[in-house]
Amino acid sequence: MSIKELFDTMEYGPAPESAAEALAWLVDQGDRFGHFIDGAFTAPGDGFDSRNPATGEVLATLTQATQADVEAAVAAARKAQPKWAALGGAGRARYLYAIARLMQKHSRLFAVLETLDNGKPIRESRDIDIPLAQRHFYYHAGMAQLMESELPDAEPLGVCGQIIPWNFPLLMLAWKVAPALAMGNTVVLKPAEFTSLTALLFADICQQAGLPKGVVNIVTGDGAVGEMIVAADVDKIAFTGSTAVGRHIREATAGRGLELTLELGGKSAYVVFDDADIDSAIEGLVDAIWFNQGQVCCAGSRLLVQEGIADRFYTKLRARMDGLRLGNPLDKCIDVGAVVDPVQLQTIERMVASNTAGQVHHAACALPENGCYYPPTLITGLSTSDPLMQEEIFGPVLVSTTFRTPAEAVELANNTRYGLAATVWTENVNLALDIAPKLVAGVVWVNATNLFDAAAGFGGVRESGFGREGGWEGLAAYTRPKGKRKALARIEPTMGHGAPVDPIDRTAKLYVGGKQARPDGGYSRPVWGKSGLLGHVGLANRKDVRNAVEAAAGASGWAKTTGHLRAQILYYIGENLSARAAEFTHRIDAMTGKRSGAKEVEASIQRLFTAAAWADKYDGQVHGVPIRGVALAMKEPVGVIGALCADEAPLLGLVSVMAPAIAMGNRVVLAASEPYPLAATDFYQILDTSDVPAGVVNILTGSHAELARPLASHLNVDAVWSFSSTDLSAEIETAAAGNLKRSWVNNATSLDWSVDHSKRFLQAATEIKNIWVPYGE
Ligand code: NAI
Repeated sequence: MSIKELFDTMEYGPAPESAAEALAWLVDQGDRFGHFIDGAFTAPGDGFDSRNPATGEVLATLTQATQADVEAAVAAARKAQPKWAALGGAGRARYLYAIARLMQKHSRLFAVLETLDNGKPIRESRDIDIPLAQRHFYYHAGMAQLMESELPDAEPLGVCGQIIPWNFPLLMLAWKVAPALAMGNTVVLKPAEFTSLTALLFADICQQAGLPKGVVNIVTGDGAVGEMIVAADVDKIAFTGSTAVGRHIREATAGRGLELTLELGGKSAYVVFDDADIDSAIEGLVDAIWFNQGQVCCAGSRLLVQEGIADRFYTKLRARMDGLRLGNPLDKCIDVGAVVDPVQLQTIERMVASNTAGQVHHAACALPENGCYYPPTLITGLSTSDPLMQEEIFGPVLVSTTFRTPAEAVELANNTRYGLAATVWTENVNLALDIAPKLVAGVVWVNATNLFDAAAGFGGVRESGFGREGGWEGLAAYTRPKGKRKALARIEPTMGHGAPVDPIDRTAKLYVGGKQARPDGGYSRPVWGKSGLLGHVGLANRKDVRNAVEAAAGASGWAKTTGHLRAQILYYIGENLSARAAEFTHRIDAMTGKRSGAKEVEASIQRLFTAAAWADKYDGQVHGVPIRGVALAMKEPVGVIGALCADEAPLLGLVSVMAPAIAMGNRVVLAASEPYPLAATDFYQILDTSDVPAGVVNILTGSHAELARPLASHLNVDAVWSFSSTDLSAEIETAAAGNLKRSWVNNATSLDWSVDHSKRFLQAATEIKNIWVPYGE
């Protein structure tokens, strides 16, 4: 084609990136890979081929790890961990920095290998995946440097099992490995079976950086190897992948005392208001759903357009789609590359074929004869309940419907079981900032989309999983508080017989929706002290749990109150408790038979005052991110928190959970100390006289073992905690898998309630939502 012809058509010529270096690296390794264990590559064993999805050609043969391989990797990581931690933050920072530098030096090799292995356009691997992966190592070199000064109470978890997907192979590795290493952990990582090559190149880089052996171990293979890692003697599992596997991992790790973070699927809304800059919003969509062929957990896959502009918007969008260039991912002029594997292609084809209600537009681009390609696709006119509007397609397929008002936009956007990300387009700053907080998502982009940075935490709510990657909050997932843990000792109720201390029948009811409520089952049990019968308490059942959760869910207005107001109410509760300190002291002493009541009441008042102090100070952050904008890391309440309170500290255990939770705008359903419930039932009167709105605090009495499952499985409960002296960790974490609620269970250890753990409670009681907004020049 002549230059004149090029100017006439304005068509791009091909600009292919050479694969030679990457293919030569594969040949250098013998085209067959073993695992990377204890600082060296093992001999290749039985395995499977890794193919280039754009051509179908075999790139290398990988080894399917055996049980013995996984055990060797975990043993190497275990052995290396104490020394690695003992290097100190500054010592580890050097290695992380060296890795970052080497990744930067070899960035083109990484980019080409990633594109060959995954099928994503070289423009993306070159400009997004690889630079962001490097950035994670640089950023976390800094975090390692600062660990001792900024996180003096944190210590590493130990050995982390990490299982990653195929959509951002090296980037997901970086998200997992960098913070783990920075905080003094060692890792056993399994890349996805379709895309293991850049992880193996990364192993080569670790060797070049002189990383102590055993700090990073990489085993290859399919889901069965993932299962082995999940079952191994590790201290944490970090997983990114499908919600189904995430749920399975939650169940498989239940009660084992493992830390767990899950970054799962999404069906993120992309909301376009009628005053949006339409051309920008359409370019944004190209990034939202055609970036990486739509194989992005936070892809803006659900388009919601305001009715007045819908026709014009769809017309422009179809025209833009028809201009997208699809083909050889190594061509720098390509917009859309290959889908990762024929299996994933079939899933996409099957889902689109299931459409019965929507109008389908496939982009006009020609598909290459060979390879796994699917054209950019738009399906309009779907109802919100249509499976295609609800299920993750994980391909270049955008589904869409329209809305009329901002309120309806929010309702539709939140109408999914997921909560990973959302995008808002409008030129009206008031509207954008009104809508962003209402979207149930871990990340919100305003007039932009799919922006990521190591400084801004990433992760979801609801069935998109829990935990954050990146930022300060991401470090919490790789550390635990220093200190010895006490073994849990079950506390039995005092048994007795004989006449009541006071002849008047005193049967304390439950406290639900701001009112005292008779237990549904109509049963109660006596509470004995050393001096005799102290009274009776109601035995709550699953129906009472339902009523309490309903009351808590109904009190959602609490989340919208100001920190100042919540602080005032907490101070007021403290003041009222202080006025009745003698009565509570007496009650606690009578139940426990100890003389610890006065101390416990005083500590409870302090906890209330501490929570009040934090209510208007436990703020978010503003992250400077490398775009023309900022990321506002806002702390939001988790929602409804169900908790089994400590048995040994009848008042302090309850207050220590309740105060920070409500300070941050949560509503709580608390199961009082099982053996000593009467301090909690007396506490109703304090709540009644302290302006606590109905439903914000609900208190049940009865058997923790009976209340655990209904609380942990209730779909309107967002987090479940247990400090009971009955170890119900396994049962709770299994039941919590249903809607993937956050859990904090004591795993056969107990907290020392005389120590103020308010910061831990505040952290557990909040979710960080990162809102990216344009800012500055
Ligand atoms: P997947 O969840 O099965 O695989 C992700 C990783 O988990 C891989 O390394 C895999 O080997 C491993 N794995 C699979 N089964 C396991 C098990 N039982 N225990 C431990 N590890 C296990 O995802 P898959 O099958 O590759 O894709 C299926 C769907 O999952 C996609 O269509 C998409 O909807 C979703 N997905 C979501 C991702 C995200 O980033 N949120 C990433 C990849 C897939």
